[in-house]
Amino acid sequence: MVLEPEGNTRGPGAGGAGDAPSQERRSLLAAGSTAIMAGGMIGGYGTFFAMAGRYLYSSAADRTWLFVADANGIAPGESIPFESPSGIRVTITRKAESATSTESTDVQAESFLALSSVCPHLGCRVHWEQQNNRYFCPCHNGVFDPDGNPVSGPPKAGGQRLPRYALQIVDGALYIEMPTQSVGQQS
Ligand code: FES
Repeated sequence: MVLEPEGNTRGPGAGGAGDAPSQERRSLLAAGSTAIMAGGMIGGYGTFFAMAGRYLYSSAADRTWLFVADANGIAPGESIPFESPSGIRVTITRKAESATSTESTDVQAESFLALSSVCPHLGCRVHWEQQNNRYFCPCHNGVFDPDGNPVSGPPKAGGQRLPRYALQIVDGALYIEMPTQSVGQQS
């Protein structure tokens, strides 16, 4: 009588056949764990970048570009009023020294200046006086130079200049940059 060794009741080769699915399961488990870890990392980085993107987007969304006019439609030395939908009043002036480019179709944004038309002293309306080459506030005789710097009157005493806004020209159209979160405000 021949006794079979304990634990080998399935005969030669049975153990090898039984190991294959076991190894396959281990491989699948390892692959699954790796996928879960990778997914976690991607999710973590994704959340980070989503938060960063939202911050950057909201920062950019704080300001917007508004169409003003055809850039060449404003003559050198001419000044036009502009009011944003949120009520911000601005005076946009094409500098007189840009006269040489009157006929040019590629006039530069640097040829223009956008300044608040609200006096920083007590809020009266400031207007451009081309003949005097200055901005003037009639309430208390406040005077500003063409760049919005205070020259005399209360704004000079208080060191208050006219706030300036960025401009750009795209395909001959003049645009002004305005804050979008100032509905109803004036500057
Ligand atoms: S409000 Fe303009 S000078 Fe006083």
